[in-house]
Amino acid sequence: MCGIVGYIGARNSQEVLLDGLSKLEYRGYDSAGIAVFTNEGLQIRKAQGRLANLATRLEDEPLAGGVGIGHTRWATHGKPSDENSHPHTDATMKFSVVHNGIIENYMELKEELMAQGVPFISETDTEVISHLIAREYDGDIVKAVQRAITYIRGAFALGVLTEYEPDRLVAVRCASPLVIGIGEGENFIGSDIPAILQYTRRVYILNDNEMAVLTKEAVELMTIEGNSISREMIVVDWDAMTAEKGGYDHFMLKEIHEQPKAYRDTMRGRLQEGLSGVKLTELKVLTNERLREIRNVHIVACGTAYHAGLVGRTLIEQAIRIPVETDVASEYRYRNPIITPETLVIVVSQSGETADTLAALREAKRCGAAVLAITNVVGSSVAREADDTIVTWAGPEIAVASTKAYTSQLIAFMLLSLYWAEQTGRMGAAELRHQLAAMEALPEQVESILTQADELKRVAEEMAAHDNLFFIGRGVDYAVAMEGSLKLKEISYIHSEAYAAGELKHGTLALIEEGIPVIALVTQSSLVEKMISNIKEVKARGGVVYAVTDKAHAELVSKAVDGTFVLPTTLAHLSPALSVIPLQLISYYASLARGNDVDKPRNLAKSVTVE
Ligand code: M6R
Repeated sequence: MCGIVGYIGARNSQEVLLDGLSKLEYRGYDSAGIAVFTNEGLQIRKAQGRLANLATRLEDEPLAGGVGIGHTRWATHGKPSDENSHPHTDATMKFSVVHNGIIENYMELKEELMAQGVPFISETDTEVISHLIAREYDGDIVKAVQRAITYIRGAFALGVLTEYEPDRLVAVRCASPLVIGIGEGENFIGSDIPAILQYTRRVYILNDNEMAVLTKEAVELMTIEGNSISREMIVVDWDAMTAEKGGYDHFMLKEIHEQPKAYRDTMRGRLQEGLSGVKLTELKVLTNERLREIRNVHIVACGTAYHAGLVGRTLIEQAIRIPVETDVASEYRYRNPIITPETLVIVVSQSGETADTLAALREAKRCGAAVLAITNVVGSSVAREADDTIVTWAGPEIAVASTKAYTSQLIAFMLLSLYWAEQTGRMGAAELRHQLAAMEALPEQVESILTQADELKRVAEEMAAHDNLFFIGRGVDYAVAMEGSLKLKEISYIHSEAYAAGELKHGTLALIEEGIPVIALVTQSSLVEKMISNIKEVKARGGVVYAVTDKAHAELVSKAVDGTFVLPTTLAHLSPALSVIPLQLISYYASLARGNDVDKPRNLAKSVTVE
């Protein structure tokens, strides 16, 4: 977690750092800070809270200089405070460090350093790094960093400066993401590409256990042992505007409206002409032969990506008829799952950097499974470590609440299940064409849903007055109910739960009392009657039911509920790609109605790179 940036060049580094941090605030916003070489040496400014607080502080006390590092924090060790904010320094204040990740053995290192007389001022794990580098320094900052990190265990991406060598910026990556941006007479580091995209499109992506030494004119890449490495430079083809709000009030609203494009982009080039099949040319390890050998599938992910995996389970099971399990990544490794070389493990991650998901991927590989990644970030850790990757072309997702990444993951699962069924002869041409035609219609159907945002705003404003709310559904509608509930909790802070509608009577019905809002998803023809019975059970106890259903069922359902939102009709198993949209909008407007910070909900961060 946390975001780091660094700059070395002729510009005013304070501006570059603040700009980069503003792009990284989604990674944490408990505090922010920068360190810059000025005429008076290495100077630091920090401020608790949002980046805006640091910017205000810098207006009064600016830092002028062309070399600096910056950090935006999501607190892990030590509460949000000025002392615990980065950059951290050593006792002489000659070294400065920004860090993203966790140092697992920091307590023992801290005790050792304290026994050597080193004073600590923060509660963070990071501070040990600055003291270790200072201790190891004998005139060469690169060697000092290399020696210092041999003592530490954990995950870290670092930016390091020392006043003794003001023309060098050292960056290290060990299990936390880091990219290097290449400019003309200037160079950059960042936790991700958008952080530096305004200044350069040319980047190197560091691998684990690699480091970079930046001067104004050059970047030297090496392993953490000091062996020189060469790396192909990537030229990024999205522009800085793509990562901006583009006229919307919030990134989340923009990203909700970008979904038709994200669906089209994720399908683009992957549908055969005449809808005769699916092309997934990126699958190299998962050949037809290997696909035929797969006996079971594990889908592993966190949060919203996990919910996409629940839908993925149904899609694959229905198309391929082999057992599929979906697991929360943080639980997966610890339940000692039965993974064999005939297991396909699919890891799903928007960022491709989620620590729990990455750990699950590594465990799956260790056990000899084939690993397929579904991710939104080309070059992310998950993409690089998986055997094969299906990229979701949703574009950068900035809002903490995931929307377009989730629905693009659904599209990826649809493509995969149809491709697999086709390649292994499980689906005939006519059925394939029928399914692909339904998929192709989804973007336009989403557009029509988005035109009804005002109706959903009204519903959301009513819901925002409540403290508790339930979502119910059956089959894939239940999976979507779980995503709707997470979205609402995450940004509106309204307590909500999602239940399999048939399960209510086994306990939860006790919570239904007069006026409690219940959102019911009713899109599955085979389950409509059962859903209506469950809705009646809720209404008999005073619940107020708002249904999300489709045209085919609207007449029947509307008679049983208090309000209805009608979706266009699609195939039953594709419905999550439509039914989640009203739930995203309800969450967005409920959060707005409650005066919350929609894009940066409390206690959360976009990219969770700690376990
Ligand atoms: O980047 P990832 O897809 O691996 O992230 C997983 C979760 O942290 C993420 O989906 C989270 O649940 C979202 N903030 C929910 O909106």
